[in-house]
Amino acid sequence: MHVRTAAAAVLVLVGGLALASCSSYTAIAPVTPPSAEAFAPELIAKGAQLAAVGDCVTCHTAEDGKSYAGGFAVETPFGTVYGTNLTPDTETGIGRWSETAFARALHEGVDRAGHHLYPAFPYDHFAKTTDEDIRALYAFIMTREPVRARTPANTVIVPRPFVAIWKALYFERGVFQPDPAQDARRNRGEYLAEGLGHCGACHTPRNKLGAEKKDNPYVGGEVEGWHAPALGAVSPSPVPWTADSLAAYLRTGITDAHGLTAGPMAEVVRNLARVSEEDVQAIARHMAALDTRPAEQRKAQATKALAAPPRGRAASTDRGAVIYAGACADCHDRGRAAEGGALPLSLAIAPALPTPGNLIHIIRDGIVPKEHEHAPWMPNFAGALTDDQLTDLVVYLRTLAELPPWNDVAGEVRAAAKEQE
Ligand code: HEC
Ligand code: HEC
Ligand code: HEC
Repeated sequence: MHVRTAAAAVLVLVGGLALASCSSYTAIAPVTPPSAEAFAPELIAKGAQLAAVGDCVTCHTAEDGKSYAGGFAVETPFGTVYGTNLTPDTETGIGRWSETAFARALHEGVDRAGHHLYPAFPYDHFAKTTDEDIRALYAFIMTREPVRARTPANTVIVPRPFVAIWKALYFERGVFQPDPAQDARRNRGEYLAEGLGHCGACHTPRNKLGAEKKDNPYVGGEVEGWHAPALGAVSPSPVPWTADSLAAYLRTGITDAHGLTAGPMAEVVRNLARVSEEDVQAIARHMAALDTRPAEQRKAQATKALAAPPRGRAASTDRGAVIYAGACADCHDRGRAAEGGALPLSLAIAPALPTPGNLIHIIRDGIVPKEHEHAPWMPNFAGALTDDQLTDLVVYLRTLAELPPWNDVAGEVRAAAKEQE
């Protein structure tokens, strides 16, 4: 609440002055919805891939709702904004949007009627998308099944016109320009990761007005109660990422010597699984290049981490170690190579993060594959451990990362329990 009020006050102050000088947008005339035959099948297929890179379905589909029919709640420090109905329904969706109106939404963050859209819709990334790719996205979206579903009203405390101020401060327009000094694959990867892929929307920290701190990219951010880890040179991953391990992880959620994907990243991976191998490889190359540490240093760190033995079976009277030995060691000390085994937790990312939230979420809720999915299954312990036991366990697991203890683990455990009540 505090942040919200302060932010609102700042906006109101700057507002009056700035609004007057900001450009305004006019409505773009409605069109008769184009028929599916108007689009070439190849264009629709290309659009499907680009939509998967952009996670469009994730934010534009309510839990248990019809695909793209809207109603997914994007929580921001300023209130909830709902992903809209993107199906071509003429009343509740975008059936009457021309390609020009659609392109303006992605490039400018403005709807067909000319209103500013909230940046919970990551157009600060999507603006980098070429007209050609927007054409393919439009073809894909306009050929979805129309669904009549009104998007719930959002609860953002900042009135729409004030988004103009946010844009004046933070929004960088302009389609991605390839860097001639980089090879074509790197440019492709950068275009996708920084544009439609909007990796920074979660992995880059945000300022008080919700804008990404562009001068500190990929040093770790917060999303939906999860920490999105730092990527690149300050990555806390025990075994440093390589282009190959990133490519495997981004397509499957799991790769040697790294934890299974969880939380909001699991959705990103589900979407990327539908993207071409080539494009995911390109994204992986771009992300790997962010790690500027010398190759020998990264190799030495990997060798050291991989040599560390699992610790759980060591005789210890530490309460957390005892719980670990009883509840976790059977799978996690065995290693993935063994039947029913899982990654030693000294290699997992969650104990190495700046806050214990992800680890607590994973232990409480497990990592459960969706129906029909063949993926590893981490059991949930929400009912099996008391808050005190979970606290002791989490404090112990932090020692596996050989990092300074976390503050107030008990408080974080209580907060996670409360979230679910
Ligand atoms: C992180 C969540 C998120 C993702 C990912 C996302 N959107 Fe959205 N989108 C939103 C939200 C939230 C809104 C509503 C913003 C508002 O009400 O101001 C929105 C609004 C829109 C609008 C305006 C619709 C209208 O009726 O005003 C379009 C068009 C759109 N999104 C297209 C896309 C496309 C195409 C993709 C994938 C490339 C995509 N979005 C991915 C969250 C998202
Ligand atoms: C029945 C076997 C089993 C038990 C018991 C179990 N896990 Fe897991 N756990 C898994 C599997 C399988 C995965 C995902 C694949 C992997 O890591 O190899 C996983 C994943 C995790 C992850 C995510 C990172 C990673 O390694 O993929 C964490 C953290 C984790 N478990 C912690 C725990 C803790 C703490 C306990 C004890 C309270 C526990 N697990 C008990 C099987 C188990
Ligand atoms: C909706 C938010 C979100 C988006 C978008 C997102 N991530 Fe993530 N990512 C997360 C979260 C949260 C985690 C931590 C959970 C986990 O370990 O799976 C994570 C974990 C990861 C990890 C594992 C880090 C480690 O050291 O174990 C990698 C690598 C990664 N993301 C890369 C990417 C790339 C590349 C993109 C863009 C294509 C991307 N992410 C987009 C939220 C996001």
